[in-house]
Amino acid sequence: MMPLNVQKISDGSVVDHIAAGAGSKVLAILSSSHPIEGMAALIINAPSKKLGRKDIVKIENVFIDETTANKIALIAPKATVNIIRGGEVVDKHHVEMPKTLSGLLSCPNPKCITNSEKAKTSFSLEESGSMRCRHCERLFKPEELV
Ligand code: CTP
Ligand code: ZN
Repeated sequence: MMPLNVQKISDGSVVDHIAAGAGSKVLAILSSSHPIEGMAALIINAPSKKLGRKDIVKIENVFIDETTANKIALIAPKATVNIIRGGEVVDKHHVEMPKTLSGLLSCPNPKCITNSEKAKTSFSLEESGSMRCRHCERLFKPEELV
């Protein structure tokens, strides 16, 4: 089988090592936090030595910031963010599950006060890996918040 080739980018970001199936959500997070004006590519089921199969998102002229990387961590905790400038990888880091997440995402509990009043949402990471809403105190899987 011919490998699927996707060209390198000269400036922008590559989110690599996304668990297979989560790439389209990563692209959705990116497009909601940065307007996509250049090209973007979503590669699904690329072969990976570590993960078996992985998804990759490449996006031109967007340099992923920490807030966006934190959101990506919720659905792709093993992802690597590569920042590309002048065709070279100038920065590479693993996304990190945020310890607290304030004012970014809404609470999935329809009865939570943050959904009826203008209260700022806030979630904190528990040792179990779940996120707890500070208002209604319910626990959610990280991916449920995205
Ligand atoms: N990449 C790109 N355009 C560039 C440079 C890199 O699209 N100008 C992509 C590569 O295709 C790869 C990712 O960015 O998907 C990371 O590049 P690199 O660090 O060179 O690859 P690896 O060493 O394989 O990365 P890792 O060690 O993180 O697996
Ligand atoms: Zn809540």
